[in-house]
Amino acid sequence: MKTPSPNTLIVFAWLVDRYVPAGKLRMSGRLAEFWYGDHFLQNGYALNPIRLPLTRDVFTAEGLQGDLGVLGDALPDSWGRYLIKRQYNQSLSDLQILTLDASQQRMGGLFFSSELDDTPVFDAHNQEWMIQFSHWLNDNSKDFPERMEYGSSAGGAKPKCLAQIDGQEWIAKFQPGNEPLNKPAIERGTLELAKACGISVPENRLINLPDNKQALLIKRFDRAKMKPLHYMSGQTLCGVLFNDAGQVINDTRSYLVLADTLSKISADPQTDRVDLFRRIVFNILVNNHDDHVKNHGVIRSLNGQWRLSPAFDLVAGEGGSRDLAMTIGPEGNKATLDNLLQSLDSFGLTRLEAINEITTMVTSIQNWKQLFEKSGVTINTINEIAWAIQESIDVSGL
Ligand SMILES: Nc1ncnc2c1ncn2[C@@H]1O[C@H](COP(=O)(O)OP(=O)(O)OP(=O)(O)O)[C@@H](O)[C@H]1O
Ligand SMILES: [Mg+2]
Repeated sequence: MKTPSPNTLIVFAWLVDRYVPAGKLRMSGRLAEFWYGDHFLQNGYALNPIRLPLTRDVFTAEGLQGDLGVLGDALPDSWGRYLIKRQYNQSLSDLQILTLDASQQRMGGLFFSSELDDTPVFDAHNQEWMIQFSHWLNDNSKDFPERMEYGSSAGGAKPKCLAQIDGQEWIAKFQPGNEPLNKPAIERGTLELAKACGISVPENRLINLPDNKQALLIKRFDRAKMKPLHYMSGQTLCGVLFNDAGQVINDTRSYLVLADTLSKISADPQTDRVDLFRRIVFNILVNNHDDHVKNHGVIRSLNGQWRLSPAFDLVAGEGGSRDLAMTIGPEGNKATLDNLLQSLDSFGLTRLEAINEITTMVTSIQNWKQLFEKSGVTINTINEIAWAIQESIDVSGL
């Protein structure tokens, strides 16, 4: 399949009730340039209030990162790129990839096209399509599901698709082929446990697939009343930069930097910083060490307020490392409550408040088995993940 190879795209953003041109993105080699259009300058909003203010400047970056990271957030990660490679059988530029998911399903509130009068195709995958997709995941020799590019804009590395079910938009996550554990069920249990710990999480449910596996449906938080909401990742908030080879060249990945940006842009910084604090405590208590910088983000509501997004990709026992993925205190990524308790200024908490938070969460964690079971996780899966949950951690000495 041939796809045009543009060097300039129109960046559309959702405004009130439709996508409107927000500006132009031009790339030559690694040099990326973006500037807002006149109309959007008057009626629109800053796509990133910290790094991309609504001015007449031409913003530049080496690739879709740094000041232009919010545009890079609209690109898929390894899973979406895998789907695209399977479908197109050639390597595509970032600009080509941005135009591929031209459906109303595409992630976030941006849309990209080389045509000024373009608009996303009004089409979405349904439950039937999702089941066909899961068959294909289990057996690649089966027919390639049609319109695979719709939803390919979703980030992350694990197998997933987007679908509209019961009039709502969902992300569906599947058990990877080489994965013996029922990860969708573990993620469901972990999300429900996080909710019990006072962390905001999206509605989610497990569904049985015909092949004896399960998928996790997670309600999309980048939609409100079926309208797209604009999203920005933690990677963009922290200003992480990569070189050509994809290596990080300035390690700014930090919960403390995230907390600081929440102070600057959130419409309710104190609630959001406490939620972030709870996520760190939670990740320590359930050994989720895959809490990397793209597993956090902020969302812009239809009335223009930025808030920390609900938590996502919380999976007990996930990640190869013993440390958290980002700095939480003077001892860097070390996954201890002591390390975290030395950075309380960043979260606007006194030591007493922080210890009260932790104590309440530890009490909720002690009921984890009942909660996992109530959430539909089997006893086998509960036993397989039991090592990860610190249910008897002693907080009396904090
Ligand atoms: N409920 C949601 N609503 C909207 N966007 C979401 C939601 N959950 C996840 N996302 C977005 O989709 C991306 C991929 O989701 P997720 O992190 O769950 O996938 P993953 O493949 O498990 O990721 P990883 O590669 O970190 O393991 C996230 O980075 C986030 O931008
Ligand atoms: Mg993720």
